[in-house]
Amino acid sequence: MEPNRSLSLDEIDISQIEFWSLPMEVREGAFATLRAEDPIRFFEEISLAEIGLPQGPGYWAITRHADIQTASRTPEIFSSARGATSIADLPAEMLEFFGGMINMDDPRHGRQRRIISRGFTPRALARLEEGVARRASAIIDRVIERGECEFVADIAAPLPLEIICEMMGIPESQTEMVFHNTNVILGLGDPEFVAEGQNPLLAAMQAGSELAALMKEMAEERRTTPRDDFTTALIHASGDEEVLTDEELASFFVLLVVAGNETTRNAISHGMKALCDFPDERRKWAADFEGVASTAVEEIVRWATPVIQMRRSLLKDTTLGGVPLREGDKVVLWYNSGNRDEAVFDQPHRFDVTRSPNEHIGFGGPGPHYCLGANLARREIRVMFQQILERLPDPEITGEAERLRSNFIHGIKRMPCAFTPGAPRDA
Ligand code: HEM
Repeated sequence: MEPNRSLSLDEIDISQIEFWSLPMEVREGAFATLRAEDPIRFFEEISLAEIGLPQGPGYWAITRHADIQTASRTPEIFSSARGATSIADLPAEMLEFFGGMINMDDPRHGRQRRIISRGFTPRALARLEEGVARRASAIIDRVIERGECEFVADIAAPLPLEIICEMMGIPESQTEMVFHNTNVILGLGDPEFVAEGQNPLLAAMQAGSELAALMKEMAEERRTTPRDDFTTALIHASGDEEVLTDEELASFFVLLVVAGNETTRNAISHGMKALCDFPDERRKWAADFEGVASTAVEEIVRWATPVIQMRRSLLKDTTLGGVPLREGDKVVLWYNSGNRDEAVFDQPHRFDVTRSPNEHIGFGGPGPHYCLGANLARREIRVMFQQILERLPDPEITGEAERLRSNFIHGIKRMPCAFTPGAPRDA
């Protein structure tokens, strides 16, 4: 895919939701123009009066890889806490559920991250590994005889959700509820996930409070009956370990399902689409799965960039890329653009499963907020594609990959897929 630079600099408005419905090559072309002509450009924010939020002051769009890295590495100037990491400041009622560590600075951030990191140690991940492999195999078992499926719902979506639920110890009867509520929260810009006439912000708050209520219930139960799961580890101290309060646990859980679910699901969907669009790359990986897997997984995350952007706010005046910025200014780190930066990536619009080096920023830039789930996500993507390449050797996308209309999550909602039927392994 070659970027189409038909929009001139003045015609580009990445704040408008319509921009995010433009064909992919036009979007990529617009970001190429921003990188080349005005890599730190000011944009007005759209009015959110309709959903009851005040008009924001606008933001600087940071579109070059190097500047995104600098901002990520300098949290003492580029804050995640001031107002939130979404473009619009979140109202106080929302911060109750969406105020997890992603929206904090040190020392609060460091404290929470230390506690939560207990769930992401190599030992904790090794314990999940067997579940990842077993579930990925069962997912393929469920579709393999049919010879066709709706890739997102049937293959990409279940694994990340099931693993997070397993990690936290959520009962299977609740996974559907968890799945629905994450869709509502992340599909804010997309009419499909919010009923007509409903205020999307209220819908997201309702979804957040349902997830929080589930967590509170589980925490109460584990206080009397501890179990061998992550939820128990977060609220029970051994020795002088710190623990999360119930409120912190609830907002961490909302962050976890939101951060770990859709992101990995979309990486898998975009990865599948890329492997079908570039069959030579698929054949290369299939011919030497283990040899290629680690570069292929990184390339999938770069290619997909499931999280399009995160915001920071200036704690003091500074200069970035030669542009003076003032205390209080918002800056938005456009990871999608950094991951196509010609200054860093050779032929950035080419999907290359053996790309090396690959300094992508799909898991965020280097710094304190770098994705805590990166190794888990890498594992899930790898294991899912091992199953796909081994057991669905000739997949084809048979219709349109329907995109989520969002400037935050690079999502595929549906993608019909066909392949030669095979036999389930469990049978
Ligand atoms: C391909 C999949 C994934 C992508 C692309 C992704 C992307 C990101 C990005 C860009 C950030 C940085 C936010 C910032 O700088 O403000 C982040 C943070 C985070 N991610 Fe991921 N993520 C993925 C999977 C996961 C998974 C599977 C989990 C957990 C199960 C997870 C948990 C988190 C958490 C807890 C944070 C917050 C870290 C902090 O603020 O210290 N992510 N992720």
